[in-house]
Amino acid sequence: MSNNDLMEKLVSLCKRRGYVFQSSEVYGGLGSVWDYGPLGVELKRNVKDRWWRDMVSRPDIEGLDAGILMHPEVWVASGHVEGFTDPLVECKNCHRRFRADEITGDQCPICGVKHEFTEPRMFNLMFKTFMGPVEEEAAQVYLRPETAQGIYVNFLNVLNASRQKIPFGIAQIGKAFRNEITPGNFIFRTREFEQMEMQFFVKPGTDTEWFDYWRNERLEWMKSLGIRAEKLRLEQHTREELAHYAYDAYDIQYEFPFGWQEFEGIHNRTDYDLGAHQKRSGKKLEYFDQSANERYIPYIIETSGGVDRLMLVLLADAYREEEVEGEARVVLSLQPKLAPLKVAVFPLVKKDGMPELSQKIYDDLRSRFPAFHDESGSIGRRYRRQDEAGTPFCITVDGQTLEDETVTVRDRDTLAQDRVAVGKLSGYLAERIG
Ligand code: GAP
Repeated sequence: MSNNDLMEKLVSLCKRRGYVFQSSEVYGGLGSVWDYGPLGVELKRNVKDRWWRDMVSRPDIEGLDAGILMHPEVWVASGHVEGFTDPLVECKNCHRRFRADEITGDQCPICGVKHEFTEPRMFNLMFKTFMGPVEEEAAQVYLRPETAQGIYVNFLNVLNASRQKIPFGIAQIGKAFRNEITPGNFIFRTREFEQMEMQFFVKPGTDTEWFDYWRNERLEWMKSLGIRAEKLRLEQHTREELAHYAYDAYDIQYEFPFGWQEFEGIHNRTDYDLGAHQKRSGKKLEYFDQSANERYIPYIIETSGGVDRLMLVLLADAYREEEVEGEARVVLSLQPKLAPLKVAVFPLVKKDGMPELSQKIYDDLRSRFPAFHDESGSIGRRYRRQDEAGTPFCITVDGQTLEDETVTVRDRDTLAQDRVAVGKLSGYLAERIG
């Protein structure tokens, strides 16, 4: 299977099974915006919940939920108004627009005609809108292009309210918007996406140590989601690649079907952001260390991940095509803890009271585990549907159930079948899901 095929198959599975739909599809779709369906939204919640719990259950991390709209001065101070730009060129023949660095030869990648492109002009990636009823420049605000700035401008509020001491961090999950010139690769690069960002405030001089610590923590966290280690790597940014705020940066990359690409960044942002906000706002954003009787602007180590990109990593990593007893099957081997549905319950046949019994088992389980009941089609087809959906366990009520109140529990990955007493199903599943 070629890598292009894999992406096409993944997109089609995501639609078929209700993971991801194109936005506004009945109107022909809206470029680079995607909607999460019933299974997609569950997977997304599981990913975000896991990140949130693992971050804010630490005694040294607090949570925050800042607004998407912020004072426009925030983006002047942060450098985004001036520097959050990409060079844009236009094909003079077909008028398609590209990032200048994407054009490798002198032929247009779309119309293929050899001719000239317009001179590059810098294009700011921030979406603009207006606050209030008057559409004038004074009322212009931006949709945030990163969640981080909401944390920086709340640094002192959180510090004072939580009585934390440095080193400590602030974590936030939320939407971000970038008017990307060339979005693409499904949910990899979109114009509306979600970020999970954590800003860790440290004493200057200890930043290198904390940078190493968080780089390692984040890579290990990715492995803890079941992502194959050989598909993950850390790549340090070269001087030319560093963002305007970063002193040092590493990408956590995954080997996608379209090559190695970043899906989370760990950045040493020094005192750049707090220093810039202090200067522009005229308000002190310093930390006072009582024990040492010293005052300083903390350095910031940032871990910045995209929820949607991580979703693509998880889906691409879990996608397998296999042959089972001469029959092809597609399976999403998502970690049971992350899988949207944990269990499906089937009657082997639609008679002898089996459907009623399986319905009862389903009703008992669904308050504890996201579950699905399916009576239609052959048992093989029902298994295939759940394999594609990524459901780790399938319970089948059969003739023996009527005699001894046991059912089979089939493991999605090994296909092994355990016989389990109906009364013990809940405990059995809880243990297997972990
Ligand atoms: N606060 C730092 C920051 O925003 P970034 O490297 O620009 O750093 C962090 O973005 C993460 O956000 C990326 O690793 C990626 O997962 C996600 N991201 C950025 N732009 C994106 C886009 N257009 N579509 C989807 N995810 C995006």
